[in-house]
Amino acid sequence: MIIAANLKTNLSRKQTSEYVAELELFIAQHSITQEVLVFPALSSLNENDGDVVIGAQNAYATVNGAFTGEIGLEHLEEFGIRTILIGHSERRHILGESQEELVVKFNYYKALGFKIVYCIGEPLEKREAGKEEMMRYIFSQYEGIDTSYENLVIAYEPVWAIGTGLTPTLQDIKEMHLDLKEKSSAPLLYGGSVKVTNAKEVLEIPNVDGILVGSAALYVEHFSTMIQYAQDISS
Ligand code: PGA
Repeated sequence: MIIAANLKTNLSRKQTSEYVAELELFIAQHSITQEVLVFPALSSLNENDGDVVIGAQNAYATVNGAFTGEIGLEHLEEFGIRTILIGHSERRHILGESQEELVVKFNYYKALGFKIVYCIGEPLEKREAGKEEMMRYIFSQYEGIDTSYENLVIAYEPVWAIGTGLTPTLQDIKEMHLDLKEKSSAPLLYGGSVKVTNAKEVLEIPNVDGILVGSAALYVEHFSTMIQYAQDISS
């Protein structure tokens, strides 16, 4: 399974390196064989030659250049970063990234062979508009995306469940993952208010290949517990 932590705009460089070191220790001590990804703030990116894979929360589709406030391939290569998160709901809805912009970014990092964790998910009003409307919205987030890219991971994260403590029912997640697997056979993560108290049951749902965790992953012991759940379920 893939257990991923999105640290968002949290943890300094020093805190992140302590976080990753603690995870490495946990992985070694508990013989963890799951894929563990951590997406630190861009200024906290660093090389890591252990088991934890470090990914970028964002980068511009460029090697370098005049794109104030952005980083490019050169800045990822400095730390050996080969994994990127694209389409997170906060980038779509707060930072205003359009589907067209995401596609450009996706194709750029795909051409470089990056592992891409591509996020999709509906806002509350789309969910309340009924299944058909909701699926139409979600499928529009697949437009221009190569769903058969071999290094693709998809994360289904209902926007209304992110950082709110609200989650769909286990049955809802089960149905959604079944539908989404028809769109792409890429590993499919669930994200949105996953925490120690619900991670186990979410990971047990068929077609859930892992989790993408925000707030609860800020506590390394909580995130480690979720990694252990995935390990127990997989073995
Ligand atoms: P959350 O965030 O776990 O705090 O809901 C998940 C995410 O944004 O990836």
